[in-house]
Amino acid sequence: MARTLCIANSFRIQSRKTSVLVAYPFCSAYASNSSLSVFGIRAEIVTNSISNTLYFVIQLKSRVKNFSIYARPSIGYLGGYALKVYRENDVALDALTGKTIAILGYGIQGRAQAANFKDGGFDVVVGGRPGKSLEQARKDGFQTASFQDAAKKAHVLSMLVPDIVQSGVFEQIKPHAAGKTLVFAHGSPIHFGWVKPENNCDVVLVAPSGPGKKVRSGFLDETGVVATFAVHQDVSGSARQTVLSYAHAQGFTYAGVFESSFRDEAVCDLFGEQAILCGGVPELIRQSYDVLVKRGYSKEMAYLGTLYELRALTQMYVEKGLDGMLENVSSAAGYGGLMQGKEAVGPETKKRLEKVLDDVESGAFMNAFSNESKNDFPETKRLLEEEKEKDVNRTGARVRKQFKL
Ligand SMILES: NC(=O)c1ccc[n+]([C@@H]2O[C@H](COP(=O)([O-])OP(=O)(O)OC[C@H]3O[C@@H](n4cnc5c(N)ncnc54)[C@H](OP(=O)(O)O)[C@@H]3O)[C@@H](O)[C@H]2O)c1
Repeated sequence: MARTLCIANSFRIQSRKTSVLVAYPFCSAYASNSSLSVFGIRAEIVTNSISNTLYFVIQLKSRVKNFSIYARPSIGYLGGYALKVYRENDVALDALTGKTIAILGYGIQGRAQAANFKDGGFDVVVGGRPGKSLEQARKDGFQTASFQDAAKKAHVLSMLVPDIVQSGVFEQIKPHAAGKTLVFAHGSPIHFGWVKPENNCDVVLVAPSGPGKKVRSGFLDETGVVATFAVHQDVSGSARQTVLSYAHAQGFTYAGVFESSFRDEAVCDLFGEQAILCGGVPELIRQSYDVLVKRGYSKEMAYLGTLYELRALTQMYVEKGLDGMLENVSSAAGYGGLMQGKEAVGPETKKRLEKVLDDVESGAFMNAFSNESKNDFPETKRLLEEEKEKDVNRTGARVRKQFKL
């Protein structure tokens, strides 16, 4: 039996009889890949060379039947992964000093990130095709250029056009990518292989967990947005410093940034959108609303009961966790949620969720999406029209207007 844990400061190994605190400074005195044995529990120290994090591989020897490992509260522990959270004091801007940054695409993320870099005193050029957004960039006081010219001028090329068009934009900037850093804000283009950079540039990910407005307001009010980063290709040997400096310059370190991979970011992001954020929860609302209305309850009450209160509740999910939410609602709501949630969403849902995840992982979803986009989104448009006609949305529009919500 072996488990892998990451320990940032110290940890406690406890057998049935004995507990020993192993302090990180003490352990770190051991060379990488050395080990220590405590009461039949062998802790091997290994270093993850990519993230420079120490891991302890804990092995249970025959003499000890039970043991538990306690991590101190400050220690990040995520399903057996290291979670080193980088904050302002952990990161410097040096890797970007004196460099020009090309913001390729001036939309939701592009406009916010360009403004943050500008306020941070960086030299920014906005690249794009002629049109509305490039015009906006000019009005906002940025130097603008074609994708090619912007890439030619800059050292850091940030891909901020929609994912599905990135392969086309990348073909235009490819001749100017050598020796530079290519930055992505989402893992899909690299993970699913739409963009295949040559082995002559650094390729990194800085993915904010929030929309452009929050990226900008988080920079201004110094609260930041949690972001993940990853290094796909490190030709210069300094890709990691560059990606951390980029995240820092965007103010993401106010909230905290941590290392992931293009694959994990792409898959978890797409799955979360489909299973919960934009798919599963809206579908549960539609069906719950329909059940109430079909039984003769007023549409307004059905809307308030199934959708309106979600804002306050989801804020609690995020700020206090699901357990904290259940502790902070009325006792009837807590009891009802705990007892009936599984009635509403049964074990068969898990099987369906696995199918959703299979489609994301295999690339089947992305292939379908790519075909949809090539044909100018016919299914998306049709389903959106149907959505607008749904009773829950018509009632919602009326209620929001009546109550000035
Ligand atoms: N949206 C978010 O909040 C968010 C959050 C996290 C990560 N991300 C990631 O950030 C990246 C950018 O997403 P976004 O939502 O910010 O994109 P977006 O707002 O949809 O991007 C719009 C920009 O892309 C340009 N553009 C659109 N289609 C184009 C094409 N065919 N050829 C050339 N330029 C084109 C637009 O120019 P025109 O005005 O000329 O059309 C505009 O400058 C993506 O990788 C996304 O996954 C986004």
